[in-house]
Amino acid sequence: MRVAAICAAVDANVRSEMPANSFYYRDVTTCSGGLILGIESSCDETAAAVVGRGTAILSNVVASQIPLHSPYGGVVPELASREHLRNILPVVRTALAEAGATYRDLDAIAVTEGPGLAGALLVGISFAKSLAYALDKALIAVNHLEGHIHAVLLEEARHNSDAGQEASEGPGPMLALVVSGGHTHLYLAHVQAGAWTYRNVGRTVDDAAGEAFDKVAKLLGLGYPGGPWIDALAPHGNPEAVPFTFSQIKAKVHRKGEPGALDPSESIYFSFSGIKTAMLRYTQVHEMGASIEARRLALAELPDPKPADTLPLCDKRTLDLIASFQRSVVDDLRRKTFRAAERFHAERLLVSGGVAANRELRVRFTAEAGERDLPIAFPLMSLATDNAAMIAAAAWPKLVAHEFADESLTAEPSLALGTSLQAAARAKPAARGR
Ligand code: KG4
Ligand code: ZN
Repeated sequence: MRVAAICAAVDANVRSEMPANSFYYRDVTTCSGGLILGIESSCDETAAAVVGRGTAILSNVVASQIPLHSPYGGVVPELASREHLRNILPVVRTALAEAGATYRDLDAIAVTEGPGLAGALLVGISFAKSLAYALDKALIAVNHLEGHIHAVLLEEARHNSDAGQEASEGPGPMLALVVSGGHTHLYLAHVQAGAWTYRNVGRTVDDAAGEAFDKVAKLLGLGYPGGPWIDALAPHGNPEAVPFTFSQIKAKVHRKGEPGALDPSESIYFSFSGIKTAMLRYTQVHEMGASIEARRLALAELPDPKPADTLPLCDKRTLDLIASFQRSVVDDLRRKTFRAAERFHAERLLVSGGVAANRELRVRFTAEAGERDLPIAFPLMSLATDNAAMIAAAAWPKLVAHEFADESLTAEPSLALGTSLQAAARAKPAARGR
């Protein structure tokens, strides 16, 4: 996509608001609002938000593409890019209008650089670059996963400010579980003097948890994305009816004494492809194919099907299967997350990403955190799934630190967050040798 083409589409008002001086730089200490326009387009949501000083959400606009991708049961990358192109300008304009802000009021433009779909990311990035260039504003690149972590912090900041408290910078690490359609990761997060660092201490070796929700919902003839459908139907079934087991995943073993050798038991591994196959086998063995097809056809007849429409279309066996699936996934996430919290001496737990909207997950995680006296936080329901407020919030510490992107910013579909345990272990011997 040509940046010039996007630039031409940018609101005509932008150019009349252009200051004549420095490019990509404005000293935030002299700005009153600390206003950041966040832009997110990594998957199937075109989103823009205006957030003040990393905590005050002035607007948060999300144009969802769910109806577009629903008939395919998953995101079609080419369709997603085209829809982002159509939506980006109206979404940004609406976010500014709802915030009561103009382009001139902004201190920076933050955009998701990855991970995500290359074409989808490029739409947001090209637009943000053009806007930053035209307005002579700072451009900030944000990792989508860091954005999800900051969605939780946004909620904490709101609680703290309601209670008249400052955000705390504890000495110990926080453990963040980012669990969404594309990711199931555990990070140890540290914040010192407002700067955030992350270490990846857990990940899925195959499917993400949200992907399992989506694929299982599709298998059972439910709607897309599957998480909210399964969430809504699970309370109507018996979660202990079908026992699923998760195998223990073995880490890659380094030879003893080899540089970078790491206790293989240290990193935490998830795997969700097995339960998907087990679900398929269950439906085959119990000959559920005809009832699944009938449900699929009945939903296809409805103009705007909702999870509540499905309840009369599900028999007891199906509801028990759905409840058992959700319980198994939630319990696997819970067990491994709390194991990691113990192993890495986490002082707080943050749970974010689309799957963090799951009600059973919230209840069971909160109960265990209570038993262990471990503080736990989730994002607001509306900030659990992809949004741009989290991108603007994650950009605030970077604005304060003058961590700006330049014209070379491009989409990074496989962008990782922070260092991994293995990389940290490999770096150690070199550091000692200096
Ligand atoms: O964070 P997100 O919007 O996009 C990614 O970064 O992937 O997460 C979307 C994922 C989808 O897989 C969706 O099924 C899942 O989050 N999800 C849920 C719920 N709401 C969304 N999963 C379980 N329960 C929910 N209530
Ligand atoms: Zn996401």
